[in-house]
Amino acid sequence: MNFSEDGHVYTDRNTANPSHVAIIMDGNGRWAKQRLLNRIKGHEKGAETVRTIVECCREIGISILTLYAFSTENWQRPQVEVAALMTLLANFLKSEQKKLLDNNIRLNAIGQIERLPENVRNALYKTMALTEKNNGMLLNLALSYGARAEIVRMVKDIAIKVRKGIIDSDSITDDVISDSLYTKGMPDPDLLIRTSGEMRISNFLLWQIAYTEIYVTDTLWPDFSKDEFMQILKNYQHRKRRFGKV
Ligand code: FPP
Repeated sequence: MNFSEDGHVYTDRNTANPSHVAIIMDGNGRWAKQRLLNRIKGHEKGAETVRTIVECCREIGISILTLYAFSTENWQRPQVEVAALMTLLANFLKSEQKKLLDNNIRLNAIGQIERLPENVRNALYKTMALTEKNNGMLLNLALSYGARAEIVRMVKDIAIKVRKGIIDSDSITDDVISDSLYTKGMPDPDLLIRTSGEMRISNFLLWQIAYTEIYVTDTLWPDFSKDEFMQILKNYQHRKRRFGKV
């Protein structure tokens, strides 16, 4: 599948693979607890898994990888944990900059970026600007992201446009809504993976996953591997996607 946005064209090398993979990276805390470690150690190990899976997606030609890195609800975690996650993010952005450039990966963020601490925001904007022209793969980090907040923002945007007479309420379609979300211009995820076994969506991409294939694994995110990811892709390839048709 190809798509273009702002002049970018992302191309699949293997049409049997999903174009867009989204991941709910869960289980860092449990991984640490099993080892009698501080939860933050779990997030640190989780950040290593992020590096592995980004690399793997680039190698096999996945066009878009969207990672749920920090939710709007995660702000309610203890302050030390929030601070540690922010530090991890800032470090990740700095340490991965060269790799993103060398591998033609464009970085993007979805969510309430304005709520992030200044150092994280600056690192994010800098990396986004540096990688802006890359078109080998899009790495979308969902940061301070919540799907309901995204939908509220979209409804407000459209309501303002209707009030100003920019669009007519009768011309509001699925596409108008999709174009008012953070994921504007991107195809919806083909595959959503959730690690650590919970059977829920946790306010992630509610509009975008209408026809997404879902795979839940019991593996905790820090233990998630390239091998398991490849197995999941194989499982995806055997699914029959009907999009509500027969
Ligand atoms: C869920 O595990 C994970 C998170 C809330 C944060 C995800 C963050 C990372 C993987 C590391 C940093 C990210 C990047 C992009 C460098 P949890 O703490 O809810 O685990 P639990 O349910 O077992 O407690």
